[in-house]
Amino acid sequence: MQDPEIKRPITDLGMVDSVSIDDAGVAHVKVLLTVAGCPLKDTINKDTTAALEKVDGITGVDLELGVMSNEQRTAMRESLTGGQAQREIPFAQPGSLTKVFAIASGKGGVGKSSVTVNLAVALANQGLKVGIVDADIYGHSVPAMLGVADSRPTQVDDLIMPVPTASGVSVISIGMLKPRRDQVVAWRGPMLDRALVQMLSDVYWGDLDALLLDLPPGTGDVAISLGQHLPNAEIVVVTTPQEAAAEVAERAGTMAEMMHQRVVGVVENMSWLVLPDGSKMEVFGSGGGQRVADTLSQRFGSKVPLLGQVPLEQTLREAGDAGKPIVEADPTAESAKVLADVARTISGRGRGLAGMQLGLTPTSKL
Ligand SMILES: Nc1ncnc2c1ncn2[C@@H]1O[C@H](COP(=O)(O)OP(=O)(O)O)[C@@H](O)[C@H]1O
Ligand SMILES: [Mg+2]
Repeated sequence: MQDPEIKRPITDLGMVDSVSIDDAGVAHVKVLLTVAGCPLKDTINKDTTAALEKVDGITGVDLELGVMSNEQRTAMRESLTGGQAQREIPFAQPGSLTKVFAIASGKGGVGKSSVTVNLAVALANQGLKVGIVDADIYGHSVPAMLGVADSRPTQVDDLIMPVPTASGVSVISIGMLKPRRDQVVAWRGPMLDRALVQMLSDVYWGDLDALLLDLPPGTGDVAISLGQHLPNAEIVVVTTPQEAAAEVAERAGTMAEMMHQRVVGVVENMSWLVLPDGSKMEVFGSGGGQRVADTLSQRFGSKVPLLGQVPLEQTLREAGDAGKPIVEADPTAESAKVLADVARTISGRGRGLAGMQLGLTPTSKL
């Protein structure tokens, strides 16, 4: 049985304090939680009991939950981090196999967070281990879209556990680093940089296949910090079809290029609304996504594809509000299909893309 946050067997983590089986076949087990009031206490209790009940010859389970001592916690933290005092950003190390995607936009409200959570869940549905860093200092709406708006990460000494979600992706939000959820923090330069580094290096992400970052809109401090700390991040630009939105989205793409990051492609969101008679109403105009793709291709001298056009759908908004992204809530919805396709393309697992230039480097592994 695995720890739900750390995703490693509890036996490896020193969490199993004692096990004995009496003559009647009842297993008496004591499991130590990392912290008192661990939010996942019930899950651990249930999973451990279920795992024991499956063992042949066990007639009953007597489970006691305790709490680790400071020494035990420190030992566990050291075993997780390999005993390093000064942690580095694992995703920036030369041998890292984690693909890092930063989702950028020119302005707010274009659906950047919706695209982030849906791509993440779609990648998880492909069988990948996926994490999200919500670095949007203005919005931090990712936890709510994944149904964990009120969750706080568990901390083991100075190591932070990402919050697991029902969709299978783990998340850390800049909002979770505030002492209180309703607190207003004016994040700026150095503090913001520290927060970003903390979310990347002080969080125990384990071995991720993909890490997605929801960036604040525009070309501010976070984009610069990201370029410095994660130069290997690949950028996905989100825009609406509107001319003005496309113009600012191009700037976000150019910023990435300045930081020597690769733009993997453009997602156009809110492309049209399908009316009851089946016709498409282009509420925000048309052409913005293609225009950003063309402009960036020209500017960089390499193909930046339009990865997909996501229609306006009420169910997408409702799914986000309900904390269950549309790719999971209704995979048959048009928006869900487009977003799942985009996820396959960026992970290099695209289907039916023969002849289409993806702009993926042949060495990129996931
Ligand atoms: N394709 C879409 N169809 C319907 N509603 C959408 C769509 N994309 C985004 N929304 C809604 O628009 C609002 C803004 O989207 P959000 O993802 O929070 O944007 P951003 O992160 O760029 O500010 C949210 O309420 C979201 O549910
Ligand atoms: Mg957002």
